[in-house]
Amino acid sequence: MVPLDLPRLEDLPLARGTRVLVRIDLNVPLKDGKVADDLRITTALPTLGWLREHHASMVIAGHLGRPKGKPDPQYSMAPVAGRLSELLGTEVPLAPAVVGPKVEPFAASLAPGQVLLLENLRFEPGETADDPGFATNLAALADCYVNEAFGASHRSHASIVGPPCVLPNAGGRLLFREVTTLSRLLEPHERPFVAVLGGAKVSDKLGVIDALLQRCDSVLVGGAMMFTFLLAQGYDVGNSLVEPDMVEDCRGLLETGCVRVPTDVVVAQAIVDDAETRVVAASAIPDGWKGLDIGPETAHAFASEIGGAALLLWNGPMGVFEVAPFVAGTRRVAEAVAACPGFTVVGGGDSAAAVRQFGLADRVDHVSTGGGASLEFIEHGDLPGLAALREGKKG
Ligand code: 3PG
Repeated sequence: MVPLDLPRLEDLPLARGTRVLVRIDLNVPLKDGKVADDLRITTALPTLGWLREHHASMVIAGHLGRPKGKPDPQYSMAPVAGRLSELLGTEVPLAPAVVGPKVEPFAASLAPGQVLLLENLRFEPGETADDPGFATNLAALADCYVNEAFGASHRSHASIVGPPCVLPNAGGRLLFREVTTLSRLLEPHERPFVAVLGGAKVSDKLGVIDALLQRCDSVLVGGAMMFTFLLAQGYDVGNSLVEPDMVEDCRGLLETGCVRVPTDVVVAQAIVDDAETRVVAASAIPDGWKGLDIGPETAHAFASEIGGAALLLWNGPMGVFEVAPFVAGTRRVAEAVAACPGFTVVGGGDSAAAVRQFGLADRVDHVSTGGGASLEFIEHGDLPGLAALREGKKG
């Protein structure tokens, strides 16, 4: 299958020394000035390797965090340049800026197979504003464009939607893998199809829940967003996080009969390592206490439903899994997903971090590198970055 009919690397008009602008989702977590999790870098290596084998030179562009459109040292790509150099086995210089006269000579002098990393795209206000002038300056650094940034392809930002309009372009290997795999969730043939959703806010996930309810047999809800559903069922939820504006929407979702909400929860008065916790019925959260994880009865019920799934999507932790007393629900779900004999997909962000933390990533069929991007793709079946490749100048 050619997913969404996207142009491939093989379609690029490459010759020795052709300069390729490669947009990668380099938005990686940092710790003590170093890359703490390099999944988004390692998954782009096959594309870089292929370009190198074909004697292209590469100008790599990415963003890191959310700097406010001007240089900010804490968001410099320097740690990424360091990790890329280690992984590629060759020095990857970091350009002193994103575009302009300070960068152009570096890009122009790249030898075949050489790699240059641009500074953080979001140091330029034109990136998030999708400014055509900035996109033109970016495109001027190369002869071809490759989108290897699935995780950022839901953003209509200049580096995602601009260069493919003017340069011969293609999707990278990871982008194809993401799109091909996540496409299985758009018109699913396998039954039952079970979705497990967590995370803090229903408002962020309403669109995707609606879309999934058209396709899934059941949607299991955990994470802080469960409390708005419990409120919609008429329960008191103590000090738990809720979105009162979303109660009506949650009621509508519950009426479909396909949404399963927790029957018990772990509550505490503070989110600390030595918190005193209680397991209570979802209908009996005491005043002054807040729900911070699904309870064991719910975890068991969710695990057994996950175990019977032929197709499984998990996005969002079940509780505050970073803090020890509230990890059990997320761990139980992660173990059930790992053991599930059906086809399993973990949609980026915190749930991807959780499966890696529990050492279970190898037992999941696909761990997406896109958080928001994977959800938007599942909701809409397309993304601005993919549309730009399809509609842009062909290679
Ligand atoms: C991500 O981390 O999900 C992507 O890199 C997009 O980042 P953003 O949400 O800051 O646009």
